[in-house]
Amino acid sequence: RGRILSFEADPAREGRGALRYHSDGLILIRDGIIRAVGPAAELSSLLDPETPVRNHHPHLILPGFIDPHLHLPQTQVIASYGAELLEWLQKYTFPEESRYGNPRIASDASRWLLDTLAMNGTTTAAVYCTSHPVSLDAFMGESERRGYRMIAGKVMMDRGAPQALLDTPQRAYDETREAIARWHGKGRLEVAITPRFAPTSTEAQLEAAGSLAADYPGLPIQTHLSENQAEIAYVAELFPWSADYTAVYERYGLVRERALFGHCIHLSERERGALAEAKATAVFCPTSNLFLGSGLFDRAGLRKAGIPIGIASDIGGGTSYSMLTTAAEGYKVLALRGERLPALEAFHMMTRGNAEAMGLGAVIGQIAEGFEADITVLDSRATGPLCRRMDRAETLEEELFALMMLGDERSTVATYVAGRAIYLRPETERIGTGL
Ligand code: GUN
Ligand code: FE
Repeated sequence: RGRILSFEADPAREGRGALRYHSDGLILIRDGIIRAVGPAAELSSLLDPETPVRNHHPHLILPGFIDPHLHLPQTQVIASYGAELLEWLQKYTFPEESRYGNPRIASDASRWLLDTLAMNGTTTAAVYCTSHPVSLDAFMGESERRGYRMIAGKVMMDRGAPQALLDTPQRAYDETREAIARWHGKGRLEVAITPRFAPTSTEAQLEAAGSLAADYPGLPIQTHLSENQAEIAYVAELFPWSADYTAVYERYGLVRERALFGHCIHLSERERGALAEAKATAVFCPTSNLFLGSGLFDRAGLRKAGIPIGIASDIGGGTSYSMLTTAAEGYKVLALRGERLPALEAFHMMTRGNAEAMGLGAVIGQIAEGFEADITVLDSRATGPLCRRMDRAETLEEELFALMMLGDERSTVATYVAGRAIYLRPETERIGTGL
């Protein structure tokens, strides 16, 4: 029970969704699924007096946050000093990822990541593991044990990195197929075809990725696209036949629905048209784009082109696991472009928008009957001394804007995965019965 806020799909509002708010609402959950949502006074008649009820007033109950781009093995890469993308990969990221062939390291990191996501109210993510199949096994095993809906992939990379990280086209193909057989559809898990990005895959490997994509037409795909000027120039050098960066992925059948392209900062008009036509998603990674000096995402332009847009942390190029902090930095990136990101649009992006971008709009991202009960509860006053504006917030939108700009993991009161509380802030009220 509490103040419930969620968005419904609404085609008339250009992907912004329609707000559904109950100032005193109740969510009924059974077997991990939301069975009913509405005003507490109306739904209370459905409640058996023995039904356990957790009262979350005065806090906000939202769909669990969704993070459509982050890297499991980059926890210890966050805040690496002084480099842009290509140098950052070579100097910090590849050496760190090389350790993930060790199952112990991969499983410790997986547990830590899932704890940290829960503490931040994030219940689903699209995750890059490393090129080592054990890293995906560790992450999927731990996610399944905890009941999370997750998308993750074994990274395909066969050039341009230390030997310890390289596979081959055949190995990447075989290992991805094995990963699909082992994990795809198990519990709430899905495997993503994950070529890291064009510079670390040979044409033979991109062809292998393309044949996996053709073999599994409904599978998510994740990669990086048009993040940094030196990267774009390098792609032009490596693939001289290609009209542009996006055309490399198009050539191998990797641009399609449920393909998540991280960054998409410097796309040409032609590339925008190609992504829009394929219904592929552009993922905005504001903290990463600022930290690595990659550039300012053109949300208005991509939206005008008709491209679905997600927003993500991109840990460890990114600097925060919090989707609230991510949205706040997104706001600032867009402010530098003279654009605005209203709070209701930001909260829509972090929930329903990201669910739709990942092709999961029918199962998560919304608090409504039949949806999976992945829920986060936020305290908009938790960041108290910082949040003086809260004392003056007169509207829900003002409250949400202050929460987005100033909130972080301290704002999380509770996180539920499939109806089960997997994180409770220490002082969170005990469960009772009845209203
Ligand atoms: N491009 C290729 N690999 C990566 C990565 O790990 N992080 C980011 N931000 N960009 C990439
Ligand atoms: Fe990334």
